[in-house]
Amino acid sequence: MTTTERPGTDAERLRDRIAAELERTRARTAALTDAVDDDDLVRQHSTLMSPLVWDLAHVGNQEELWLVRDVGGREPVRHDIDDLYDAFKQPRKDRPALPLLPPAEARAYLRTVRDKVFDLLDGIRFTERPLVADGFAFGMIVQHEQQHDETMLATHQLRAGAPVLDAPPPPEPRARVGGEVRVPAGPFTMGTSTDPWALDNERPAHTVDLPAYLIDAAPVTNGQYRAFIADGGYDEPRWWSEAGWRHRIEAELSAPMHWRRDGDGWAYRRFGRWSAVRDDEPVVHVCWYEAQAYAAWAGKRLPTEAEWEKAARWDPASGRSRRYPWGDEDPGAEHANLGQRHLWPAPVGAYPAGASPLGVHQLVGDVWEWTSSPFRGHPGFTAFPYREYSEVFFGDDHRVLRGGSFGTDRSACRGTFRNWDYPIRRQIFSGFRCARDAGPEE
Ligand code: AVJ
Ligand code: FE
Repeated sequence: MTTTERPGTDAERLRDRIAAELERTRARTAALTDAVDDDDLVRQHSTLMSPLVWDLAHVGNQEELWLVRDVGGREPVRHDIDDLYDAFKQPRKDRPALPLLPPAEARAYLRTVRDKVFDLLDGIRFTERPLVADGFAFGMIVQHEQQHDETMLATHQLRAGAPVLDAPPPPEPRARVGGEVRVPAGPFTMGTSTDPWALDNERPAHTVDLPAYLIDAAPVTNGQYRAFIADGGYDEPRWWSEAGWRHRIEAELSAPMHWRRDGDGWAYRRFGRWSAVRDDEPVVHVCWYEAQAYAAWAGKRLPTEAEWEKAARWDPASGRSRRYPWGDEDPGAEHANLGQRHLWPAPVGAYPAGASPLGVHQLVGDVWEWTSSPFRGHPGFTAFPYREYSEVFFGDDHRVLRGGSFGTDRSACRGTFRNWDYPIRRQIFSGFRCARDAGPEE
């Protein structure tokens, strides 16, 4: 194999793509952190979240650890701050009291690290070394920063005070979408072994055989969820699991987070602005327990993670699993509500071009969708490049969410991408759709 690089070679193209992705991502990080003043950056807006200035320097520190030190083999920029920005050493609630880099220093630190990364990218050879092959570590760092950008967006949603973020509204419905889709019994390929920037928990590809099932053609909407509330769903223990009911009482849940009663209807707060709840949008800011209770009330259940992925990826014509519901090409604006282009889920029917071959809509973008599945490794899983990304979270404590939200970047979202959280969490952009076992074919 040749290592000489001329313009137009694969290595050159990969380098250009990495540079563009790094810059595109940093622009978003800057926009989210430049939107508020220094006081606001260092303040903790919720004990669930870090001060924004912690996320900011943590993003730079991860980039330093993996790209400057590990891939580049360069001297540390700031060895002394590693512990401060280690998410495992510093619980979120303690982060505001730490001697964090003040905003100006944090920004300077990110610039220094980034300059070194561009310098080493200039001379890089994409060898077979697993961290470097196909630019994996760069892709991992782009996705890491994008994940923190979504976390910072959730912090913005929790922040009190005048609105600082703005975006055009999502598109209006272009198709009538509703009801259920039948997915026939049979095997499909879950996960991936070939997507170069897929993270460890998406690997390896393996076959899963599922019985036939029905899955909702769209996420559960505000209108549907309001019917559950109006029917006394929050007052009926029989719809809730035991743990869910305990949490419902203790946390005094009575509606999705950021909702309040408004006359005889409901209003929600979206990044500092109150407005009337719109019925045809996917419901967002519900926890797993609420999703599970709604599904029971509706006579359904949450899909398993495998059911979600088969509905999203399986192409009955070829038997293959695609990268996305619409095919293998990267998400465009017509496919899905991703990338913080709009700061809210789009109404159901807004993305007909993003539907799966079976006719399931809005699987990618809009809202993360809770599945019934605990977060575990796929069969044959190996942690790479560090156990703390996924493996330490495997077990029964977390539930898997799939598909990405309006706040998720396209780089951190695929038909195989897996997110997870505690079943009580709802400050994230979480919604759901329902499923049920299929009866005998009608
Ligand atoms: C995959 C979204 C659960 O935010 O905890 C960020 C991503 N991992 N830094 C998280 C992550 C390390 C992770 N989630
Ligand atoms: Fe992180």
